[in-house]
Amino acid sequence: MIGQQVTDALNLQMNREFFNARLYLAMAAYFESLSLEGAAHWMQLQSEEETGHAMRIYDHLRERGARIRLTGVEAPPVEWESPLAAFEAAYEHECKVTGEFDEHVALATAEKDNATLIFLQWFVTEQVEEEASVDSVVQKLRMAKESPGALFAIDRMLGQRGAE
Ligand code: FEO
Repeated sequence: MIGQQVTDALNLQMNREFFNARLYLAMAAYFESLSLEGAAHWMQLQSEEETGHAMRIYDHLRERGARIRLTGVEAPPVEWESPLAAFEAAYEHECKVTGEFDEHVALATAEKDNATLIFLQWFVTEQVEEEASVDSVVQKLRMAKESPGALFAIDRMLGQRGAE
């Protein structure tokens, strides 16, 4: 039996993850507009991962017999100042998501919902990886500064990201 507070928190997070998917798809479209196809590919895969996160939560709620509630999803931004600004925004966003999961862990602990606690462990680990992978791109873009050659090299590298 899953409690109402945990159900509400997980429904909220599921809808946030659908927003995350749209945010990264919007970034993919931004990179397409700059002809940075590697970065667009990276962001498109990130968007697909976020949909996967939402569906993990959907499945957990379903398996626990909870009522699943899809809500409206706010529109993501369309433009960023630069490729670096987009990846910096992605990094800040992932740090925020990490904080959201920390709150869910605290709630599940307080509610003694061990099934949800175990379920959330996957996300806690995933967030470490998500922050690290975005930060690594931010650091490379900062080093590239205004060099088009370095930017195209980074774009080529981002284009090699495989689906996880
Ligand atoms: Fe599902 Fe990148 O947080």
